[in-house]
Amino acid sequence: MKMSRKETILSGMQPTGKLHLGNLEATLKNWVRLQNDYEMYCCIVDWHTLTAEFKNTEIMKERIFHVAVDYLAAGLDPEKCAIFIQSDVKEHAELHLLFSMLITVPSLTRLPTYIEKKDEKGMDSYGFLGYPVLQAADICAYNAHKVPVGKDQEKHIWLAADLAKRFNALYGQTLNEPEVLLTKIPIIPGIDGRKMSKSYNNHITIAESPESRTAKVKKFFTDPEKIHKGDPGRPEICPVYHLHKIYTPDAENIIAPPCKTGELGCVECKGKLAKNLNEALAPIAEKRVALENNNDYIWDVLKNGGIRARQRAAAVLEKVRAAMKMDYFS
Ligand code: TRP
Repeated sequence: MKMSRKETILSGMQPTGKLHLGNLEATLKNWVRLQNDYEMYCCIVDWHTLTAEFKNTEIMKERIFHVAVDYLAAGLDPEKCAIFIQSDVKEHAELHLLFSMLITVPSLTRLPTYIEKKDEKGMDSYGFLGYPVLQAADICAYNAHKVPVGKDQEKHIWLAADLAKRFNALYGQTLNEPEVLLTKIPIIPGIDGRKMSKSYNNHITIAESPESRTAKVKKFFTDPEKIHKGDPGRPEICPVYHLHKIYTPDAENIIAPPCKTGELGCVECKGKLAKNLNEALAPIAEKRVALENNNDYIWDVLKNGGIRARQRAAAVLEKVRAAMKMDYFS
């Protein structure tokens, strides 16, 4: 990768394993667009996943592998974008520790993301409390200018900006204050109509077979008041229609009107969606199969991404230590 004057983007994703349509449409496609205009670092954040999965560390390697395969299949180009594993770049941990001095405990326990998971899953470890501090370190270790995330992550990026600002105020101008590059996230509902998410188990993956995707589309919730063909439907509240808007060209004219009149029944409508969805995914899925069988290549990409990321993070951390007058041997 050439050193450039482009602005820097750092993006992160937990190693959740095989990625689903929500990940693809809301996140990956956006990254693929951004890699042309920014110096880009894509981090697979295994330490963040540890906050929930510290008892199941054996799952991590395979999950990382599949996330990397999906990244590449979706079109992230390792020449343009460093794809790497967070724990491969120890500078994240160092900056996390330094940042942890600059933030109070109550400002972390107040965060909605903390409160929700603490209540939902009983997560209250010291490491989990520091989740957003580690995220700030991920970002600031690259002196990133922009972070492409959805609305749910906005507060974490603000916190990173606050930490950078506080650092600069204490030790002199060193770190960029990162900004949110708000991703306009299309609504990707899952089978049950809730947001598509692996944790709800309502998802369709890029990796699964067309037959399996079709079977899942058949199970999708639809307008509960449209029971028989002939009943008028309400596409705007129908999860299947939301997916049509993504995968069926001209869905506004082809799908919505006959659904509203009742002419188009849900079975037929789902059949059309399954066909279009499978067609749209076919090129990515094909690339995916080839990549998945090329184990060495995937780990090479991650290793090389780690080397590039480390160069950048090491340079930033050197400045950080110097600003703090803790560069003892120079
Ligand atoms: N917290 C983010 C999420 O759950 C993942 C993440 C970790 C991240 N570090 C990051 C996102 C740095 C952007 C930048 O989606």
